[in-house]
Amino acid sequence: MRILRTVAEVRTALRPARRAERTIALVPTMGALHAGHVALVERARGECDEVVVSLFVNPAQFGDPDDLAAYPRDEARDAVLAAEAGADLLFAPSTEELYPPGFATHVTLEGPLVEALEGARRGPEHFRGVATVVTKLLNVVQPDVALFGQKDAQQTIAIRRLVADLNLPVRIHVSPTVREQDGLALSSRNVRLIAADRARARALPAALAAAADAHASGERDAAVLGSTARAAMTPFGVEPEYLALVDPESLDPVRTVKGAALVAVAATVGGVRLIDNQLIGTPGLRRRQP
Ligand code: PAJ
Repeated sequence: MRILRTVAEVRTALRPARRAERTIALVPTMGALHAGHVALVERARGECDEVVVSLFVNPAQFGDPDDLAAYPRDEARDAVLAAEAGADLLFAPSTEELYPPGFATHVTLEGPLVEALEGARRGPEHFRGVATVVTKLLNVVQPDVALFGQKDAQQTIAIRRLVADLNLPVRIHVSPTVREQDGLALSSRNVRLIAADRARARALPAALAAAADAHASGERDAAVLGSTARAAMTPFGVEPEYLALVDPESLDPVRTVKGAALVAVAATVGGVRLIDNQLIGTPGLRRRQP
């Protein structure tokens, strides 16, 4: 696996593959790779001839400078994991390479897609930062397929929207959330949880499981499903920042679950902000029973 620092190097490295009409996959990441990222790279390896992983902690999507500063970074370890998972190229640019002096263009989505849930909490800069960097990465790599995780459900919805709206010639694939054995969704932030808080973090998957179980038992009232999920967090001493049942495409609030609904939860545990989500009501996408 080669590590590339500049846009020019990526274009040169991919030229032979493009000429030979070999398919290219892109897995955008901010590093601190874990089994969730690895699953995306392995899927990319299975689907395409060339696999590019990008590693860039994107300042534009962090509202809080302390959160940006605290973001875990270990490029050497990430390079080993990406290579083992089957990446051919690791694009790890500097901030100046992607945001040179004079940078003035952003990609902004509008409406509930980016204003609900994470958008309400993190402000409009967050998805603007994500949309801008993802558009740039898609333009740099020009992949046939780009892969994202269901863990960040709202992000995948925003990216599908921007790809459709801007007619970007790429297919977006979304992979299921990879979890620890006790259900906690893998996240680069989990390493910041001390042991006691790590145990309390189970409140999030417990809430989602409670909603899914109630739905499986026939409950369709979103308010009841929501309060059932919230109650499941109480024994852990964790208060959700939000716990919402929304339409999986528009993110509009759902009152009665007719088809599918997305249950989305965010909570801060021991100073670490965690998010998770679960689709309910779509056969085959429901939580697999252990
Ligand atoms: P990052 O948080 O590093 O995540 C990179 C990709 O891995 C995203 O598509 C995310 O949804 C996916 N991912 C994270 N945890 C996962 C898990 N437990 N199971 C499955 N997939 C998981 O998301 C970003 O970076 C950034 O916003 C980015 C898209 C790179 C733009 O800067």
